[in-house]
Amino acid sequence: MTRTSLILFALVGLAGLDGSAEAQDKPVVAMIGTGTLAGTFGPAIGRGGYPVIYGSRDPDRDDLRALVRQSGPKAAAADRREAAARSDVIILAVPAEVLVEVSRSLGDLAGKIVVDVSGGRKRVAADGYLELVSDSSNGERLQALHPAAAVVRINLPINAIPFLMNPTLVGTPPTVLIASNQPRAKATVAGIVFDVGLDPWDAGPLRFARVFDELNTMLLVPLQQGREEGYELMLLPAVPLSCFVNVAELFGFGRPYDRNDLAPFPKRELPSSCDHWRRRLGIGESRQ
Ligand SMILES: NC(=O)c1ccc[n+]([C@@H]2O[C@H](COP(=O)([O-])OP(=O)(O)OC[C@H]3O[C@@H](n4cnc5c(N)ncnc54)[C@H](OP(=O)(O)O)[C@@H]3O)[C@@H](O)[C@H]2O)c1
Repeated sequence: MTRTSLILFALVGLAGLDGSAEAQDKPVVAMIGTGTLAGTFGPAIGRGGYPVIYGSRDPDRDDLRALVRQSGPKAAAADRREAAARSDVIILAVPAEVLVEVSRSLGDLAGKIVVDVSGGRKRVAADGYLELVSDSSNGERLQALHPAAAVVRINLPINAIPFLMNPTLVGTPPTVLIASNQPRAKATVAGIVFDVGLDPWDAGPLRFARVFDELNTMLLVPLQQGREEGYELMLLPAVPLSCFVNVAELFGFGRPYDRNDLAPFPKRELPSSCDHWRRRLGIGESRQ
């Protein structure tokens, strides 16, 4: 890491602390389900300083008591409804097939942030590869069911466990795409993703969860072909076209509903300025 990026990292880190971390109380997170994902994501969130309440069909299990002990001094276990009621952010870490039913059983979720981590249902297509069964997404179904909650879909790595145990396993943390119709809720969840060591990226409104499902189906191609290689998403910084052309004209942009309400996501490195790119590329004046 260069000296400049170290300084930027420190500044962004401090900004993050002012926003979601030490300067304010961190939101209480309910982890509904206590399986493979919850068993790693929950302790990582606890290490990040968040109070985690596991919501389980059987909150008195010995192995759940052990999981609570690994999840920081503020962790607890409860039945699912109580865990949801006591929390600000509710992560649904249950199988996709029971997602809707479980969300219904949690009671009134008005004002809560509900996080969907599930993938879309798939079937084998005529060509032998998997395809999605529906052109909608679980996140959108949840949002329709709980209109007064803010549903946020996060696209964790397909095999999230190694990266939650060691976010820099392959050098740079995977990018976690985040979609929601509620910018503030999206930023709160981005803070959690950042604090567990992964890199959150604002992917726009909740309907883009459908793209995540397509992407994940595509990421399974090597496995379906019997290739012993796996890939996760990692976005690289690129030269912003907006430094050089009128992107609104070029692409025929409209005015996104949340344009004035976007909350910045925490970043490990600040994006380079247009001046930086112009100097680096040896190009003259930018569009003003
Ligand atoms: N594993 C990963 O790396 C990974 C990565 C990205 C996304 N995800 C997503 O995360 C979600 C959970 O995956 P997982 O691998 O953690 O699944 P899992 O190991 O099967 O655990 C799911 C948990 O949900 C609860 N549960 C199971 N069956 C249930 C039912 N019929 N009704 C209600 N609750 C039930 C159980 O908790 P209690 O017994 O305590 O109630 C169980 O421990 C899935 O949507 C998956 O696609 C997983």
